[in-house]
Amino acid sequence: MLRRQKNCRHETHPLENEVPREGHYLAALAQCFLVNMRAIMKQENPKRILLGITGGIAAYKAAELVRLLAKQGYAVQVAMTQAATQFITPTTLQALSGHPVLTDQWDAAANGMAHIESGRAADAIVIAPATADFLAKLAHGLADDLLSTLCLARDCPLLVAPAMNTQMWANPATQRNLAQLAADGVSILGPASGELACGETGMGRMLEATELAAGIVAHFQPKLLAGVNLLMTAGPTYEAIDAVRGITNRSSGKMGYAIAQAAREMGATVTLVSGPVALTAPVGVERIPVETALEMADAVNRRAARADIFIGVAAVADYRPATPNEQKIKKSDAPLSVALIPNPDILASIASLPNAPFCVGFAAESEKLHEYAQAKRRAKRLPLLAANLAQTAIGADDNELILFDDDGEHLLPRADKLTLARVLLAHLARLYRKGRLA
Ligand code: C5P
Repeated sequence: MLRRQKNCRHETHPLENEVPREGHYLAALAQCFLVNMRAIMKQENPKRILLGITGGIAAYKAAELVRLLAKQGYAVQVAMTQAATQFITPTTLQALSGHPVLTDQWDAAANGMAHIESGRAADAIVIAPATADFLAKLAHGLADDLLSTLCLARDCPLLVAPAMNTQMWANPATQRNLAQLAADGVSILGPASGELACGETGMGRMLEATELAAGIVAHFQPKLLAGVNLLMTAGPTYEAIDAVRGITNRSSGKMGYAIAQAAREMGATVTLVSGPVALTAPVGVERIPVETALEMADAVNRRAARADIFIGVAAVADYRPATPNEQKIKKSDAPLSVALIPNPDILASIASLPNAPFCVGFAAESEKLHEYAQAKRRAKRLPLLAANLAQTAIGADDNELILFDDDGEHLLPRADKLTLARVLLAHLARLYRKGRLA
């Protein structure tokens, strides 16, 4: 049974019943894991962002960015240049951020020290959009208005999202300024190539608000998987019986997609082979859409040699109809049998490759979670397996997991799937590095 510290407030956990009362359960390790998890959840506490808006047409996207950041629990203080107020009003941004917008260096309310006060309060300053002119100011350390002064007086990271026309972007002066900013440790988000406000098409379009929000969230994540090629599966597979009917598993793909997002945020290059789900691919993740288990196996097999880590989260159908009907089978009163043949076990076959990547499996069980998960880890020879109860996991936004590895079991109490994904990956990264050093 999970031993608790005397003063540790912890409610009875459904998965604890699955953990044997005696044996090799490492209470100390579990405790350590809980502490670890709390630390990661603490990182989720509101971060304070100072969002600087400069005078470009992309300023309208800043409104959506404020909304997205606020939705994810960030506290946003907006500061605008005078030029920015020509494109979007401070009233809009005040309403979305819930705070008066800083525009004036000589604001009496801030005691004439808005630049120092706001800089001190922020965990990061984000400039979106950042015009060519503003980037030039930053590169040269100018401080002739409130926003540039805030940037110069900061003691926190600075992220910029350039937005300008293609010629301005390509100009050697802009490129020189960007190289200087990168050398100074400034993070540069984008720009993208696409249609620009001036009617031209090319490089210089500011990233969309969702992409910027993802970049900002990623900025705060530890880069535990930097340089790692991560291949994974998620979602269900669909095995056709005829033109309109099929066999599938109940799987929303939410856990897998959360893992893909968290891995990307931690610096991994992520390829997500996904069965049919109603989710959008996380920003920066390459998604390979597939339908059947055979297509999934083929997509994974083609990429396995380049993968450092493989995580099988997909709920792959164990069987498929031996001879699917091309046309819809007509209904009749007679019983109908469908002959099923087994699908290949994708995870087991990747794990048994001579130069196998570090393989992680998932197990969703409706009973005897502990026993079945252990058996599965042994049978597929996996260094790490994450188990969850199907009844509480499928389709939900939060989940609870037990991780099984050579050291024993680690309970991850109920949390949203992204938080669990981050804890799981932090643990995986430790095992992966240890394995590489051994
Ligand atoms: O054997 P079971 O399906 O319960 O194992 C679950 C784990 O194996 C999951 O990680 C799942 O993605 C993977 N799996 C697979 N190919 C299959 C069946 C399961 O990769 N055909």
